[in-house]
Amino acid sequence: MTEPFEALLARRLSRRGLLGAAVGGTLLFGAGEAAVEPAAGGAGSRTAGAPRNPPLPSLAPSRADALLLAPGYRYSVVARWGDALWNDTAALSDLEIQRGALVEAPLAARQERQFGTNCDGLGFFPNGGARGVGRDAGRRGVLCVNHEYVQPELAFAGQPLSGIARAEIREAWTKSNPDAVRWMQAAHGVSVIQVERDRRGWQLRRSGRGTRRITANTLCELAGPARGAELLRTGADPSGTRARGTFANCAAGKSLWGTYLTSEENIDDYFGGYRSWASATDDFATLDAHARFPLFEQSPYGWEHVDPRFDLRREPREALHFGWIVEIDPMDPTAAPKKRTALGRFSHEGANTILARDGRVATYMGDDDKFEYVYKFVTRDRFDPKRPAANRDLLDHGTLYAARFAADGSGAWLPLVHDEAGPLNSRTGFRSQADVVIKARAAADLLGATPMDRPEDVEPNPVTGRVYMALTKNGDRERAPRRDFVTNREIDLGADAANPRARNDFGHIIELIEGNDDAAATRFMWNVFLLAGDPRDRSTRFLVDAAAIRPGDLQRGDTYYAGFADREQVSPIACPDNLGFDPQGRLWIVTDSDGRSLANNGCFVVPTQGPLRGQLRQLASGPVGSEICGCEFTPDGRTLFLSIQHPGEGGTIDKPVSHWPDGGVAPPRSSLVAVSREDGDPL
Ligand code: FEO
Ligand code: CA
Ligand code: CA
Ligand code: CA
Repeated sequence: MTEPFEALLARRLSRRGLLGAAVGGTLLFGAGEAAVEPAAGGAGSRTAGAPRNPPLPSLAPSRADALLLAPGYRYSVVARWGDALWNDTAALSDLEIQRGALVEAPLAARQERQFGTNCDGLGFFPNGGARGVGRDAGRRGVLCVNHEYVQPELAFAGQPLSGIARAEIREAWTKSNPDAVRWMQAAHGVSVIQVERDRRGWQLRRSGRGTRRITANTLCELAGPARGAELLRTGADPSGTRARGTFANCAAGKSLWGTYLTSEENIDDYFGGYRSWASATDDFATLDAHARFPLFEQSPYGWEHVDPRFDLRREPREALHFGWIVEIDPMDPTAAPKKRTALGRFSHEGANTILARDGRVATYMGDDDKFEYVYKFVTRDRFDPKRPAANRDLLDHGTLYAARFAADGSGAWLPLVHDEAGPLNSRTGFRSQADVVIKARAAADLLGATPMDRPEDVEPNPVTGRVYMALTKNGDRERAPRRDFVTNREIDLGADAANPRARNDFGHIIELIEGNDDAAATRFMWNVFLLAGDPRDRSTRFLVDAAAIRPGDLQRGDTYYAGFADREQVSPIACPDNLGFDPQGRLWIVTDSDGRSLANNGCFVVPTQGPLRGQLRQLASGPVGSEICGCEFTPDGRTLFLSIQHPGEGGTIDKPVSHWPDGGVAPPRSSLVAVSREDGDPL
C-alpha cells in the first residue's frame, strides 16, 4: 500500500469523523495501578506427578535438503500434497505437476478429494475422546490439517519465480486459465483425515470415517455477535449468516470439547480491486471496516479476475467473511464449519484454549502482522465436561480482550466491549458488538493495546498454565521512539519493554503469568523468555540476567535463553512461529525464518521449569526452503506431528531447489510427518 492511498483513505474516513476517533490511543487504566502477583506456588504447582523429563535432543543447524532429526529419533511421511484421501480418487502424480496439468478442470475436481498444499496447523483427536484417554489414544485418531496457501511458481509450470514478474502476467494468465483458480481454491482449507499407527508407523486411512476436505468454497456459518450484521451482508448472502469457504488457514488449536479451531490469517492476499473501489464508494461503513485490514488492488493470486466475489468492486463486503477463527467438528463431516465472530477479526495465527479457575474457557490468539496485538477471549459460560452439547456454542458469548504490556513487567487485558458509556461507542465508530469484533484492531487501538513484533502462536502450557507467545520478528522495530502511521493508525515504532530489540530479525518469546494463576484474569505478569539468535556468534552477547534486557540497548544478535547460563549448551534459533507442549509441559517451537541469516528452519524443545529452564535444543532441521509448522503431540507424548510447509521455496517447477520428500528429480511437496523416538519412548 503506497502512502498517497493511505492519505486518501485517511481523508475519506476522517471526513466521517471515524478515523480521527480511532487513533490517539486512550489508556483505560493508569500505570500506577497495582500489578498482580502470581499466586503463591502458583504456576509451578500443578506439575506434581508429571513424568521425569526425557533427554534433550541434539542436532546441529543444517542447510541440507532433508528432514534431519537428532540421533535416536525417526520420522515417517503420513500425507503429501496431492495424496488421495478417498479410495476412489487418484493421487496427483509428479508428471502432472511437471507438465503443468493443474490448470485443467479435472485436476481441480480431484484436488477437492486430495490432501491440500502447504500443510500448516494441526489438531489430533484421539479415538477415545477429546482428552485422549483409552487404549487407542496413541494409536489412532482424526487429524485436522490446515492448508494455508499455494505457491503458483511451485504449482503451475512456466510461472516465474519473481512476484513482480508474475504480477505483469497475472490478469491475462488467470483469465486464460480459469480452472487454475478452481484448483487453487480446492488446494486451500482443511483436510480431516483418519490416521493410524501400525508396525510401519503412522498411516493415512483413505476413506476413513469422517474423512473430509474443507476448501475455499465449503459452506460455513457465521456465528456470534456479527452474525447477520449489515457489514456481513453480501449479494450471495443477504442474511449475513453464511460464508463460502475458509482459506489462509495458518496455525490452529483445539477446544476442550473436542473441536478444531482453525485460523484465517493472510486473507488480504485474496481480494482485488480495493483501491479503485475505495476511491469511488460512498459506503463509508464498509470502507471503515477495511481500514485496519486493508486489501490490494491486484491480489497476489488473481482470483478476482475470474471469480467476482473476490473483486471488491462487485462484492465489497465479501472479505469481511474472512479473518475469523473457524470451529470445525472433526467427528461430524456434515456439520458446517462455524466462524466464531466473538473472537474478533484480524490476521489470526491460531487459537489455544485452557480452563479458567471457575470453569469458563480462555482462548489465546495472535494477530500476525507487524505492530499488531495479542488477544484473549473468555467465555461467558462454563465448560460442562458431562454434557458435550452444552459446550457447542461456548465461543459465541464472552469477552474479547487485547493485551497491554507495561514496562514494569505487569500487564492488562483490555476488554473490547461495545458500551455507549465506554470508549467503544457509536461516536468512536462502534455501533454494536458486531462493529467491535469486525473492527477488532481499531477497537484495540482505541484502548491502547501494545503493538507487538508479529504475534504468532500464543499457547498456554497445559501443565503450568503459563502462556507463551511467539513474536516471530519485526525488521521495522526502531531503536528510539518515533511516531508514524502503520496500517492506517499512528503508533510508536520504537523498542519497548515487551518488544525490546530494534530491527528484531530473530524474534522472541514472552512468558505470561495470569493474575492469581487464573486464565480469566484481567491482569498479568510477563517476562521475556527467549531472545532468539545465534549464541555461537562470539561477537554477540549471551544474556543471563533478565535485567540486562533493556529496550533500545540490545544489539540485533544479542540472545537470552530464559536465564540459562551456558551458551555452549543451547541451539541457535531464528523466528519462532508455532508452539506446542509435550505432556511434561516442555515447550516445543517450530520456526519460520527466510533461512538466510542462520540455517534451514527447525523444531526445538526447551524446558520451562527446573534447572534446565531455557536450555533450548534442536530436534529437527527441515528441507531447503521449508518452514516447519504444526507441532502437535499424541496424548501419550510418543508421537509429534509436524507439517513441513513450502519445501523448495525459492525455486520453480522448472528450476527446483528441493526434491523433498521423494528425492531424485521429484517436485517438492509439502507433507505431514510423524516423529517418534527409535526406542518408542515419549519424545
Ligand atoms: Fe502463516 Fe503467521 O504464519
Ligand atoms: Ca505460522
Ligand atoms: Ca500450537
Ligand atoms: Ca510465520
